[in-house]
Amino acid sequence: MSTYENYTKTSDCYDQTRSADGVDVIKNALTNNQTPIEEQVLLDAGCGTGLFSSEMVKHVKRIEAVDLNAGMLEQAKSKLLDEQKAGRIAFHHSSIESLPLERESVDAIMINQVLHHLPDGKEKAWQQHDAVMREFARVLKPSGTLVINRTTHEQMDQGFWFYPLIPSALEKVKNKHIDTQSLVALLRSNGFDGIDHQVPLDVVLQGDEYFNPNGPFDPTWRMGDSIWSLVAEEELEVLLTFLKALEQMNQLEQLIHNLDRPRQGIGQLSFTIAKKNIVQR
Ligand SMILES: C[S@@+](CC[C@H](N)C(=O)[O-])C[C@H]1O[C@@H](n2cnc3c(N)ncnc32)[C@H](O)[C@@H]1O
Repeated sequence: MSTYENYTKTSDCYDQTRSADGVDVIKNALTNNQTPIEEQVLLDAGCGTGLFSSEMVKHVKRIEAVDLNAGMLEQAKSKLLDEQKAGRIAFHHSSIESLPLERESVDAIMINQVLHHLPDGKEKAWQQHDAVMREFARVLKPSGTLVINRTTHEQMDQGFWFYPLIPSALEKVKNKHIDTQSLVALLRSNGFDGIDHQVPLDVVLQGDEYFNPNGPFDPTWRMGDSIWSLVAEEELEVLLTFLKALEQMNQLEQLIHNLDRPRQGIGQLSFTIAKKNIVQR
């Protein structure tokens, strides 16, 4: 369960601004395997409303979709009813720290924008992340592919036009995101190698809606990025007043344009791709 976002509430409108951003990186990573992609069983860890599963189900043999939030899982099920009936996808209401799957039962794992919701942090030595990587190594076949989709600290600092305007929430959310060095160390200690990072610079997390200057005024739009759950009410009020004043002076779009510029060189998403070692631990 997320430590800060109410996904039961969010599940109804999550898809309004979110899609399977960067899914081509995952597809390419799975194609680069001895087992043809159409024969692979894929785990969608923290599947949410099933946006990534909906795309990947067209390419793989079967998906095991796992999420801890019943509301998100219901959305995914209704979206993928036909595929579920055809045995192309199975849903599991479960935590990813303890997967309801057999040892070495999947060829690949994707985990999209989930890790920062674990009840974890640097002060806890990323223990929950360690448990999840251990569990991934257990269920993955030797040479299987793991794809982790997340946002780096640098991308949080520079890749979102509105993050600098909510500085205390930004600091809080950064503490929830594992840094790249610690993630790589955890992957290695849990038996992964061939680690590669890919950043699709043109991909934005909320699609065209990310550029909507009126977005912050709309609670539904704010539900598309969990950072807003960490913005205190007074901070939000001050921000909205500031943005409204800029809008009235016809300066809001220029501000967004200026704040968005660094994103074009750093992106919003980072995909870490790793292979499970062939040598058994
Ligand atoms: C930002 S959403 C991402 C959903 C989906 N992967 C996507 O990218 O559209 C995070 C999801 O992770 C799920 N989640 C958080 N912690 C979890 C855990 N420990 N085990 C399983 N799912 C978890 C939440 O319920 C939520 O559906």
